[in-house]
Amino acid sequence: MDFGSCLVIGAWDLEFKVMNHLPSNVRVFENAEAIFQAAAEWILHLAKSSPRFSIALSGGSTPKGLFQKMSGPDFKNQFPWQRMHFFWGDERWVPQEDSRNNFRMTRENLLDPARILRSNVHPIPTQLKSPEASARAYEKNLRTFFDMKNIFPVFDLILLGMGEDGHTASLFPDDTALEEQNQWVVPARVKSSEPRITLTFPVLNAAKNILFLITGENKRNVLRSILSREDHAFRYPAARIQPSSGNLIWMLDQAASGQS
Ligand code: 6PG
Repeated sequence: MDFGSCLVIGAWDLEFKVMNHLPSNVRVFENAEAIFQAAAEWILHLAKSSPRFSIALSGGSTPKGLFQKMSGPDFKNQFPWQRMHFFWGDERWVPQEDSRNNFRMTRENLLDPARILRSNVHPIPTQLKSPEASARAYEKNLRTFFDMKNIFPVFDLILLGMGEDGHTASLFPDDTALEEQNQWVVPARVKSSEPRITLTFPVLNAAKNILFLITGENKRNVLRSILSREDHAFRYPAARIQPSSGNLIWMLDQAASGQS
C-alpha cells in the first residue's frame, strides 16, 4: 500500500470522498487479512524511518492477526526489531499468564515468534498490590524511556481498537478516566470487566501516528456516528482520539464500514 498517497489529516478536518462518503484517512479492506497486510506494511514503513521506534499496542482479539502477520514469514526478517520498543495502550489487571492479559497474547503471537529482546519490551506491570500502583509504576517506566522535554510522551505509533460501545484502549464511556488531563496512566473503572490500566487521552493524542484497526458489523453503527461527526458521537471515547499534530488512520473491514 502506498501510504505516500494517503492523505493523512487531523481527525476532524475530514474531507469526504465523493465516491463512498468516507473521510480520506479511512481505508476500507475486503477482510481482516487484507487489513493485517496493509497495517504490517505501514508499521514497517514507519519503523524503518525511526532510529528508536516506540509503539503502544492494543489488546483484545483483532490485533492477534496483525501480530501473527508481523512475526510471520512475509515480514519477520524485514522489521528492524532491535530498535523497536513495545509498550501497551492498556492492560487488564490480571496476571501475565491469564488468558485475558494483553501482554500474554502479544508474547504468544509476536514477541516470542519474532524473538524480541526482553529489554525492548515494556509491559504494564499487573503483579503489584493495586491497579493504582500498576499505573504509577508503568508511568514511571514511560518517564524513564521518553524524552522528558515533552509534557506527554510522544509514541511513534499507537495501535487502537474500538469496542461496540465506542471504548478505545481501556477508556470506557462515562468513566472518570476520560477526563484525566495530567497523568499519563490511570486505572479504569469498567463495570462489566476486570480492573484495567490505560493510557490517557493526552498521551494517546500526542502520538506521531495512530492506527485504528476495526472489524466486524457489530461496530458499524458507532463507527458511522463517529466518522460522520454526528452530534452525540462525542460520548464515544474513540471519537475523542484527535491527534494534536499526528496522523490518524482508520483501517476497517467492509463489515465495520457498512460496505458489505
Ligand atoms: C482491550 C483493548 C480494547 C480493544 C477493544 C476492541 O484490552 O480489550 O485494548 O480497547 O481494542 O475492546 O477489541 P476487539 O479488537 O477484540 O474487538
